[in-house]
Amino acid sequence: MRVGVIGAGYWGPNIVRNLHEAPGAEAVAVADLSKDRLDVISKRFPAVRVTTNYRELIDDPSIDAICIVTPVGTHRKLAEEAFAAGKHVFVEKPLAATVSDAEAIVRAGDRAGKTLMVGHTFVYNPAVVAVKEILESDGIGRVHYIDSQRVNLGLEDVVFLQIGFPSGAIAHAHLSWLAPSKLRTMIVIGSQKMVVYDDVQGVEKVKIYDQGVDKLESDELRRSYRAGDIHSPRVPMTEALQVEMRHFIECVRDGTKPRSDGEAGLTVVRVLELAMRSLRSGGARVAYRLDPVRA
Ligand SMILES: NC(=O)c1ccc[n+]([C@@H]2O[C@H](COP(=O)([O-])OP(=O)(O)OC[C@H]3O[C@@H](n4cnc5c(N)ncnc54)[C@H](O)[C@@H]3O)[C@@H](O)[C@H]2O)c1
Repeated sequence: MRVGVIGAGYWGPNIVRNLHEAPGAEAVAVADLSKDRLDVISKRFPAVRVTTNYRELIDDPSIDAICIVTPVGTHRKLAEEAFAAGKHVFVEKPLAATVSDAEAIVRAGDRAGKTLMVGHTFVYNPAVVAVKEILESDGIGRVHYIDSQRVNLGLEDVVFLQIGFPSGAIAHAHLSWLAPSKLRTMIVIGSQKMVVYDDVQGVEKVKIYDQGVDKLESDELRRSYRAGDIHSPRVPMTEALQVEMRHFIECVRDGTKPRSDGEAGLTVVRVLELAMRSLRSGGARVAYRLDPVRA
């Protein structure tokens, strides 16, 4: 698979490197408006063609897929042009800045009948995959709540986001640029056990705590606390972006749906848009309703 990459800023070179390392694909050309950024690419990957005009990639019939790694406001235009030229498209997260732009990209992909994948790297992080498998195997019982911290990164200066789910579970996310150190943790509290995922740890990123509260049948108000073993499953050390690029290549080759497809990317943009609406109205609750993309 011959891939063209548009955008060689902070993240673009990581995409180019991972395409080189993945079997079955090669990054053949890179476009960026900045000559300086293209020089960085030429130095690291001398065989890759570079250009300041992204249309050279989109118009090149020998290129099968385009990776869009530019600022979010440019994603819709670039993705629509790439689909119109019959390319498969990988778009960096978030899919778009607005729900209407994200829907337009999903529709353009459907019309073209080509693969659309969104670069939600977290979904391909082996530790996150391990946590998901634990939850899906009913390893911790019913999920009561999720608490996550991603500080040293964020939308606004500081956000405390709370999301409620139909099951009654709630999720809380603390996001901020302003923090003394990098914290990337997620705690999932289940009725039987608790899982802690700490991305900053080099080893033992995931720990399962056999801890919980058992209600006593005889007296609703009395509870017994259970504190059992702590178990840390082995998590592969593979770079999440390498897993992600291999998945994109396989989905294009086999015509299968990516785990982070356009619909998944659109759902994230919907949640972000609602979070912004809540933020602008002083933290008011906003309702989320999942609408299918209208053709
Ligand atoms: N998956 C991840 O973990 C992850 C991490 C960082 C960034 N990102 C995403 O990657 C995307 C890019 O982020 P970044 O931090 O690299 O931004 P950046 O500003 O560092 O780089 C963007 C590059 O795109 C180029 N560009 C803009 N318009 C262009 C055009 N029309 N043609 C060619 N080049 C163009 C700019 O010159 C710039 O070099 C964003 O969507 C961001 O959210 C994802």
